[in-house]
Amino acid sequence: MLRQGKLVGRVVTFLDIAERKRAEEALRKSQAQLRMADRLATVGTLSAGVAHEINNPLAYTVANLSFVQDALARLPDSMPGVDVAELRASIAEASEGAERVRRIVKDMKTLSRMDDERIGVVDVEAALDASVNMAIHELRHRAQVVKDYARVPLVRCNEGRLVQVFLNLLVNAAQAITGNAPERNEVRLATCVDGRGRVAVEISDTGVGIPEEVLPRIFDPFFTTKPVGVGTGLGLSICHSLVTGMGGDIEVASKVGVGTRFLIVLPAAGA
Ligand SMILES: Nc1ncnc2c1ncn2[C@@H]1O[C@H](COP(=O)(O)OP(=O)(O)OP(=O)(O)O)[C@@H](O)[C@H]1O
Ligand SMILES: [Mg+2]
Repeated sequence: MLRQGKLVGRVVTFLDIAERKRAEEALRKSQAQLRMADRLATVGTLSAGVAHEINNPLAYTVANLSFVQDALARLPDSMPGVDVAELRASIAEASEGAERVRRIVKDMKTLSRMDDERIGVVDVEAALDASVNMAIHELRHRAQVVKDYARVPLVRCNEGRLVQVFLNLLVNAAQAITGNAPERNEVRLATCVDGRGRVAVEISDTGVGIPEEVLPRIFDPFFTTKPVGVGTGLGLSICHSLVTGMGGDIEVASKVGVGTRFLIVLPAAGA
């Protein structure tokens, strides 16, 4: 009895430690998730402030550029001592730059609505475009971005969250493409309506692919194959929880050396 009691005692102690370790691990994970959520909220608030501050000076920059552009258009093509064509080209370039800033500010505003709970009808293709604009720095040097849109119905969700989902997938796609051959790589965004009338979005890349044994773990929080400082392993777990929170589904198919394809299916707003 005594011997048995001791043994039981030991087993119980062992289970206790394992249980406590599991609880500690779970606590550590949820604390880190909270920190991440907090960081995202801070980024949102910050971008809202910055976007607001940029808007005014941007408005008069754009107005003045367009004033000068009109004036230059009325000048004769050649004038002594003035290269009119060069002036026109410089102003055109400046206007293009200002237009790009305007788009970035607009996208930052979308992202800053992330912690806003508001649900509305959202144009999935516009959300994809906004995400591409935000990820363009990562994408440009790695692949060509190909859009294949089928003009799908609107979906009902929070726009900022949908943009966040697409952005995470696009950054992953860019990071999966190694080497320096953007002309030989592709990140493809396609939309269609599936057999059940739901909106389907496919984001595929010609990157390194995901080994079969790794595939079941990629949606786990903190699962990453990237070096410290590059990835925290939260991107796909956030995508998964956001998409399921919208009543949708996210799936992956991948082949090493060929590429990866994520499929997101969302209920149409009218459904
Ligand atoms: N498009 C992809 N191609 C190849 N591997 C991918 C792709 N997307 C995700 N993965 C794999 O899944 C893992 C988890 O992705 P996830 O986005 O959750 O985290 P992460 O990108 O490593 O870090 P974070 O997104 O937090 O910066 C990645 O580390 C990578 O191994
Ligand atoms: Mg990621």
